[in-house]
Amino acid sequence: MTEPVVIAIDGPSGAGKGAVTQHLAQRTGFHVLDSGALYRLTGLAARLDGIELSDAPAVAAVARGLAVQFIPTQSGNEPFEIMLRGVAVTDSIRTDQAGVDASTVAALPMVRAALGDRQQAFRQAPGLIADGRDMGTVVFKDALVKIFLTASPEIRAERRYNQLKNKDMDVSLPALLESIQARDTLDSNRAVAPLKPAEDAVVIDSSGMPLEAVHEAIWAVVSKVVT
Ligand code: DC
Repeated sequence: MTEPVVIAIDGPSGAGKGAVTQHLAQRTGFHVLDSGALYRLTGLAARLDGIELSDAPAVAAVARGLAVQFIPTQSGNEPFEIMLRGVAVTDSIRTDQAGVDASTVAALPMVRAALGDRQQAFRQAPGLIADGRDMGTVVFKDALVKIFLTASPEIRAERRYNQLKNKDMDVSLPALLESIQARDTLDSNRAVAPLKPAEDAVVIDSSGMPLEAVHEAIWAVVSKVVT
């Protein structure tokens, strides 16, 4: 039996993967995997349990046992209400600190292994749009389309700033830029599943592009193979 198709959207933090993923999901009717949310949820759950984020076996156990739900929303900024252990954490996993914690636990090979099957389970008919860092290089190596979406750190920090401001979060642009650069370094230099384009990925730099143009550039690639 052939597996449902996967479209992998990888790239660094703030490149616009989330918006592109939602756009593609609307156009194709495919399911969505926000793999970054799983790492963010693991970091948050470990903190709630009082576990040191460097304690790989304990954090991996948290990852394996994550009780999460992604409930589609009909309106609002977020496509899903995300529940951890029955409590809505949609906004609390989006803080900059939650991103740093996610990046820290994501560098642990045991944690990546623990989340592997959970990510595979999102692959269901009619297809999947998978958003992350290693969707095309590790988790869904056989993805039909692989996009690596990037932008300069300054532009990504500005986009993140606007997103978090929209959620009424107290953020500073210079601090966000520093955090994004630190996260890029951590995500790109880790031993397991580092952030890098797959050899067969189409690389799109969205730095000078309005969102509409990014959507169209990606649809031009996807629509050649997905009808
Ligand atoms: O996409 P995001 O900002 O929500 O991801 C948060 C962190 O999780 C990111 O800094 C690195 C990690 N991550 C990862 O290592 N692999 C993925 N597939 C997705 C996210």
